[in-house]
Order: sequence, then C-alpha cells, then structure tokens
Amino acid sequence: MARVLLGVTGGIAAYKACELCRLLVRDGHEVTPILTAGAERFVTAHTFEALARRESPRELYPHLTTADLLVIAPLTANTLAKLAHGIADDVLTQTALAFAGPLVAAPAMNARMWEHPATRANVQTLAERGVELVGPEAGELAEGEVGIGRMSEPEEIHARCTRLLERGSSLRGRRVLVSAGGTREPLDAVRFLGNRSSGRMGVALAAEARSRGATVTLLAANLAVPAPAGVEVVETPTAADLLRETTARADADAVLMAAAVADYRPTGARPDKRPKDDEPWTVLLEPTRDVVRALSDARGDQVIVAFGADHGPDGLERKRRMLGEKRVDLVVYNDVSRSDIGFDASDNEVVLVSASGERTVAKTSKRRVAAEILDEVAKLLPSGT
Ligand SMILES: Cc1cc2nc3c(=O)[nH]c(=O)nc-3n(C[C@H](O)[C@H](O)[C@H](O)COP(=O)(O)O)c2cc1C
Repeated sequence: MARVLLGVTGGIAAYKACELCRLLVRDGHEVTPILTAGAERFVTAHTFEALARRESPRELYPHLTTADLLVIAPLTANTLAKLAHGIADDVLTQTALAFAGPLVAAPAMNARMWEHPATRANVQTLAERGVELVGPEAGELAEGEVGIGRMSEPEEIHARCTRLLERGSSLRGRRVLVSAGGTREPLDAVRFLGNRSSGRMGVALAAEARSRGATVTLLAANLAVPAPAGVEVVETPTAADLLRETTARADADAVLMAAAVADYRPTGARPDKRPKDDEPWTVLLEPTRDVVRALSDARGDQVIVAFGADHGPDGLERKRRMLGEKRVDLVVYNDVSRSDIGFDASDNEVVLVSASGERTVAKTSKRRVAAEILDEVAKLLPSGT
C-alpha cells in the first residue's frame, strides 16, 4: 500500500482521472485527490472523494511529507508551465513544488498547444528534472482535430505509477556513492588541466538514487550544474581528492563512478602563478592512480559501476574488456565522438555492459538513463542486506 497524491487539472480529459483514481484505490493505495479550480469546472471534488473513500484534506502538509508518489492527470499546458517555472499559486502547484518524491504527469491539450515552443521547452525542463511523462497520444482531440495531445489511457498512467512505486523503494536502506563532474589538475596556482564533463550524468544518478530511498553521497568534481537536494555533497576537485574520498567511503552498497577523472596530472605544480613570458612552458604529466581499480582491489560485496567515455565501436570493445580487467559489475559506455550525447549534453545514449550481457539505452534524458542504470544496480545488489 502506498500513499498517492492525485492532481487533476482543468482539461477536458479530467473525467478520465476518475478511472485512474479507481484503479489506484483498487490496488489498496491511499489516494488524496487535489483538484485545481480549473478541474472543478469539469469534475467535482465529491466524485473523487467518493472514489478515494476519503474527504479532501484541509491540511495538505502531513500528506505531502508521507506521500510516495504524486501523479497529475490530466496535466494542462497551464499547470505544466507552472511546474517548469516553480510557480506555486494553488494547492496543487504548491504541493508539486514542496514534494520531494517521484512525479508522474500525463499532459493533455490541443495539438497546437503541445507543439508550441513554450510547451516544448517546459516539457524538456520537466523531463530533465526526472518527471515521468506519460503521453500525450496521437488521435482525435476534443475539438474534433487530429494530432498529438490526447491524454494517455488511465490504465497506461496507472501502470507507470505502479512501476515508479516499485522503483521508489528499490534502494531504501542502501548507501550509494556517486562521483560526478570532471577533475582539474593544477599547473600552477591559477591554471589547471581539466576536461569537459559537466557532472549532469552523476547528478542525475544521485537524484534518482535519492528518489529511490537510498542515502546518497555525491563526490562533486567541479560541477557545472547544482547538486540535487537531499544528498551529502563532498567536494573533490582533483583526482587525488576523489581517490581519497572514494576510498574513505568504499563500503557503500553501490559505488557509481561517473566523474571524468584525470588519467594524468602535471608533475610539480607551482604553488604560485607562473609569470607570462615568451618562453615555451614544458609540462611533464604523470599518471594518476586509477580510482576504479583502487576500489575493486579492495572490494567487499558492493556493486561497482564504472563509466567509460570512448570513441565508436572500438571504444565499446575496450569497455567490454574493462569489465574483467577492472573487476567491476557494470560498465556504462558512452560514445564521446557524438556531440549530441555525453559530455555537457542533456541527453545520453549508453550501452550497459555486465557479465549477463549488454543492453543499449537509446538516446534519452540523463535522468532516464540514470533510472535504467539504477534498475540494473538494484538487480545486482545482494537482496535483504
Ligand atoms: C472546454 C475547455 C477545455 C479545455 N481543455 C484543456 C485541455 O485539454 N488542456 C489544456 O491544457 N487546457 C485546456 N483548457 C484550458 C484550461 O482549462 C485553462 O488553461 C485553465 O486555466 C487551466 O487551469 P489549471 O491548469 O489550473 O487546471 C480547456 C478549457 C476549456 C474551457
């Protein structure tokens, strides 16, 4: 049994939310309906109270802190825009802004509203934030037009809610260590050798692990994006910092090394700023210690996930070998020869390589990729510990 907040907004499909409410109640979930004023022009709060077998609460806060899932169906263009921009001018949007758990949303609107650049940008924002969007579907719309905008069927939305509720607790009680970003190796007091990693993939993993109930520590190497709420953040700007902090926390249940760690560092970095002159500056690079190898050399029964950025099919072959050479449980390969995925992009496409086989996760938001990776991690974790 889970606690589900059901948001209903002012679209013509609001009547279909009654069926969604019924399906969730039938599963034994405690459903709290939250209707916008717009929704009440189409359906009444009474209908939902009868289906949920409970009155709409006067005080939402206690439900907010204990809820397992928020589902909004239908989601109007208006409320979608408010969610994207953090506007909280009614009970539903206030709830969505304050709720830290998973959010399923089923947009429904006129096809032209759906295709408008404003809506496209808002949808993209929600997808990047990890909102599970269901639909909309193509078909005949209320106005008699045909296009994309019809709300997905209640059964489909219900199935997604079920999947998320199962996922929601899949890492409860587990300690998860994630590294993110790119290390910077000092040349002198102000200059460094770095890489293009923004930290988006690691941040998405930390956020997803947190939403599944894990206690998460994020080793942050010069992130270009904010760390997610609810996770412990430890700054690890250099490869040496990352090695030290990883080793100190190596007893986590799962360790996901998504940071791009320097393989080489300049020897003898100057403590001051090297003055500018006309002479060439010769720098000698020395190899750094491999963090993943150090982890697997000292491993207990934790699940170790290594990320491998490489080029093309040959790169994939090298990453397959990494599984055995570095004795890790899962290798996530991404092809950095493509500019639309990987480094500093909001989307990713990866191949998950484990002892049991390989699986390609087609191009999608990094948050979705994170969800797929953590599904694999949950399967690899020894049960009941
Ligand atoms: C008959 C009718 C049908 C509507 N259907 C939709 C719809 O399917 N999707 C949508 O985004 N807006 C629809 N609207 C517009 C919304 O009701 C309007 O934007 C409202 O402000 C939404 O408020 P809410 O998001 O707070 O519920 C419809 C309006 C009317 C009058």
